Amino acid sequence: MKIALFGPPGAGKGTQSKLISEKFSIPSISMGDLLRAEVRKGTALGKEAKTLMDEGQLVPDSVVIGMLRDRLQGSDCDGGFILDGFPRAISQATVLDEFVKLDAVINLSVDDRFLIQRITDRRMCPCGTAYHLVFNPPIRPGVCDDCGEKLYQRDDDTEETVLKRLKVYSEQTKPVLEFYRKRGVLREIDGNKSIACIRHALIEILDSLPQ
Ligand code: AP5
Repeated sequence: MKIALFGPPGAGKGTQSKLISEKFSIPSISMGDLLRAEVRKGTALGKEAKTLMDEGQLVPDSVVIGMLRDRLQGSDCDGGFILDGFPRAISQATVLDEFVKLDAVINLSVDDRFLIQRITDRRMCPCGTAYHLVFNPPIRPGVCDDCGEKLYQRDDDTEETVLKRLKVYSEQTKPVLEFYRKRGVLREIDGNKSIACIRHALIEILDSLPQ
């Protein structure tokens, strides 16, 4: 099962890919998480990426495509994977198509008016789990249910940066939907619904894919 979860910033890609990864025992590969790991390590690549991420801009293809290729060589990807946040431009989709044929690209469409609140009230755990102060709070405030680590707010989760990220999404990322529609692998889910409803819809789609 080789799938990509698609959608604007705050659509719920990370939340759903983690749930699906646990259910189907395949890795969830988040390009944002891979880049943030480089930032935490303080590498040259991480420093370059942070500047762009804080501005809500895309990191160059030359960086992200190499990182994805390396990650997909992990033996845990042999039985499939879920991509979260890749591809984000036609150029990325074109290169990916040369070395991986995706079985499904699932678009979570969400109205812009919900996205800003989803992002500005998001709290993250270093382990990758996303919480929301209102819609998906942790059991103990400020602490991850899964690993007990302290939650933090992402530097790019300000309203100002979210607006820039939404603009980048609509100009550079949204056109990728047409790329996959033409290949017949695009599936749509109403991402305005609850986390549980979306998970249910996703599982129905994944169960219906040819084995
Ligand atoms: P990335 O980390 O991928 O950010 P993003 O795509 O902007 O998406 P988010 O992580 O903000 O949202 P999400 O859809 O995962 O939502 P989540 O599940 O957390 O990328 C960050 C940056 O890295 C980019 O801006 C770019 O600079 C760079 N980058 C990444 N990939 C790249 C690429 N391929 N090429 C170039 N650059 C790249 O949910 C959001 C919140 O809502 C959470 O609080 C959650 O609890 C809550 N929530 C989730 N679902 C629901 C629901 N159904 N109802 C109510 N609340 C919900």
